[in-house]
Amino acid sequence: MGCWRSLWVILLIYLFAFSGARELKVKHEDYSQIYNHTLATVLVQYASAVYMSDLTALFTWTCSRCDGMTEGFEIIELIVDVQHCLQAFVGVAHDLNAIVIAFRGTQEHSIQNWIEDLFWKQLDLNYPGMPDAMVHWGFYNAYHNTTVRSGILDAVQSVKMIYGDMDIMVTGHSMGGAMASFCALDLVVNYGARIAQLMTFGQPRIGNAVFASYFNKHVPRTVRITNEHDIVPHLPPYYTRFPQKTYHHFPREVWLYKIGLGSLVYSVEKVCDGSGEDPTCSRSVAGNSIVDHLQYFGVELQADTWSSCRIVMDNTMIERHTDDNGNFVMLKHPTILKVQAEMDANCSSI
Ligand SMILES: *[C@@H]1O[C@H](CO)[C@@H](O)[C@H](O)[C@H]1NC(C)=O
Ligand SMILES: *[C@@H]1O[C@H](CO)[C@@H](O)[C@H](O)[C@H]1NC(C)=O
Ligand SMILES: *[C@@H]1O[C@H](CO)[C@@H](O)[C@H](O)[C@H]1NC(C)=O
Repeated sequence: MGCWRSLWVILLIYLFAFSGARELKVKHEDYSQIYNHTLATVLVQYASAVYMSDLTALFTWTCSRCDGMTEGFEIIELIVDVQHCLQAFVGVAHDLNAIVIAFRGTQEHSIQNWIEDLFWKQLDLNYPGMPDAMVHWGFYNAYHNTTVRSGILDAVQSVKMIYGDMDIMVTGHSMGGAMASFCALDLVVNYGARIAQLMTFGQPRIGNAVFASYFNKHVPRTVRITNEHDIVPHLPPYYTRFPQKTYHHFPREVWLYKIGLGSLVYSVEKVCDGSGEDPTCSRSVAGNSIVDHLQYFGVELQADTWSSCRIVMDNTMIERHTDDNGNFVMLKHPTILKVQAEMDANCSSI
């Protein structure tokens, strides 16, 4: 009798173990198509490096944030819009076999002020060519109506000329995430590119629900990472009672949070539903933290110095194009690099 009972218990354990394992496996397979944790930990480092103010170190990829999983990155173009205090780069990550485009977030003295402003951003621009899709004029213009866009398009073009077709990955944190989103959409809609991955960290909402659904159709490989109580993804506000009028995130949110207490704390990366506004993800908690905004995966996502728009540069070898407003791009054409590499090789063989 006792024997039979243990057999039952064992059988039940097997059944539970089996069904449990199977369920986990199915979930895992589904999400691995959507969200790649390893890639997130790499791209967050690019989103961090683009904040660096020593442009020479950044351009030569020798800055203090230019190592680890991004070692060997080859910057093709660094774009500095002095007028609007924007910074972005385009380069080739040979290990990912991809072009990486990264945008810096806001560089204002007070991130607090910038965040307070976010409450009042209006949906005040029709996204061109997409009926009823409304976005915020300021975010749109930061990408479309500054030196940033042409710099990026030029650089993508020259990478393609030298290396042929490559995957494109776009990333950015905060305001840089908003610009990264407009850039990815622009590359798809206006240049027929395919975006292998758009991954943003702590980005604000940028458009309405109609815009979000266009966005999802054109840039399906999007991961929008949010962290704990980070306030910025909660802004500009989402008003559940006015679904037609409110800002609305596009999918796919991945929410980072911790469960447990004391020494038993687990980090969870939750892949959220396809709505863009999953009520069980970051929206399930109060967005009340700036600290949670400034660090993702343990990586610092803010300027290394807070002197607003400070530019540190010490360069004689780098080709630099400056316009009438003092904005400039720093270029490193891959062909020049190749000749340089060959010359180095020839020198060392002598
Ligand atoms: C996830 O990304 C890493 C780094 O890019 C890559 O090596 C790996 O193959 C990817 N995994 C999947 C399942 O796509
Ligand atoms: C571009 O920016 C300028 C100056 O801020 C502004 O006057 C113009 O309306 C903007 N263009 C568009 C298409 O929004
Ligand atoms: C380096 O040497 C190789 C052969 O030794 C030669 O073909 C090449 O042109 C040289 N490159 C430069 C930049 O001098």
